[in-house]
Amino acid sequence: APVSLKQAFKDDFYVGAALNGRQVSGNDAKALNLIQEQFNTISPENLLKWESVHPQPDVYNFEPADNYVTLGEQEDMFIVGHTLVWHNQTPKWVFEDEQGKPVSKEVLLKRMEDHINTVAGRYKGKIDSWDVVNEALNDDGTLRQSKWLQIIGEEYLQKAFEFARQADPEAELYYNDYNLWKPEKRAGAVRLVRSLQEKGIKVDGVGMQGHYGLESPSLEDIEASIKAFSDLGVKVSFSEVDIDVLPNPSGRAGADIDATFDFDEKYNVYTTGLPDSVQQQLTARYAELFDLFKKHSDKIDRVTFWGVTDNDSWLNNWPIKGRTSYPMLFDREYQPKPAYEAVLKAAAK
Ligand code: G3I
Repeated sequence: APVSLKQAFKDDFYVGAALNGRQVSGNDAKALNLIQEQFNTISPENLLKWESVHPQPDVYNFEPADNYVTLGEQEDMFIVGHTLVWHNQTPKWVFEDEQGKPVSKEVLLKRMEDHINTVAGRYKGKIDSWDVVNEALNDDGTLRQSKWLQIIGEEYLQKAFEFARQADPEAELYYNDYNLWKPEKRAGAVRLVRSLQEKGIKVDGVGMQGHYGLESPSLEDIEASIKAFSDLGVKVSFSEVDIDVLPNPSGRAGADIDATFDFDEKYNVYTTGLPDSVQQQLTARYAELFDLFKKHSDKIDRVTFWGVTDNDSWLNNWPIKGRTSYPMLFDREYQPKPAYEAVLKAAAK
């Protein structure tokens, strides 16, 4: 019987996790053990984002990212870079001149090129795959009105991929986004990738983030997107998988409240811990998702969880700060949850 996720899926796809600063600097030894034991690919949760790695015009902060890449090399892992061009976690100065006025298209393109050259160039031959552009689409499939689009125009997409290719010709280059199971957004991503391909830009993959709820999205919608992206001739990866078990006030993910358990309405916390009934739902949900991934393992290159244990998930702070959520396969004591066993079982089918 397999003793790890990476071993269980070794003939199917890479299995990984997003890592934080404490983990890559060795300050969370128990998490590090799990990472070494379970995964053969890693992603940087925050440490390679523009604001982390390039906080000011002439200031690069490479130490955490270097630790991250070193860990991946030591463990012989498939190393992901996240992310080069995004509207979020990008400092204001990137888009402004010294007076605080928007910069010209030429200036912003030059800043983008310098950033990509410096960051992707530093890890050339080491980072195996880059999320070049992240979240460029609205849920209706139109292009998001980001500063990148407003100042440069649609060309920013093509340029980002060109600069990344130039900085590291061997790395895989991905388009990455959430809610790609939504039919309109799926269609938008297909248009985006096609239009790059028509311009002669090689896109290697589409990353479906995979921030899911217990009931939504449907497996049919996820499956339709796997097929649609694969039909473009690109790899498909699930790049940021987690399952939110808490209700979401915005209705995007999450579950109905199990009324038989104490529930703090203000912070959306199960005050007495994760109820068994919800734990069972989580297990069943992970099982059906991994059955689907397994079914399409010829199209799927990688499945990465957005965190290691429940304790370090971003979902403890979203959409409300200070929640206690339970989205991962490992609990706050670093122990495998029933969902972990269910995922291993899906591998054996
Ligand atoms: O580093 C500061 C710390 O100094 C400060 O004390 C603290 C106070 O809130 O904030 C810390 O920064 C936080 C940062 O994570 C590092 O922990 C930010 O507030 C917080 O907003 C930020 O959240 C990250 C989020 O992206 C921001 O957009 C999450 O950790 C990260 O998991 C999340 O990841 C994104 C992917 O990159 C793209 N897809 C969606 C995914 C989930 O939102």
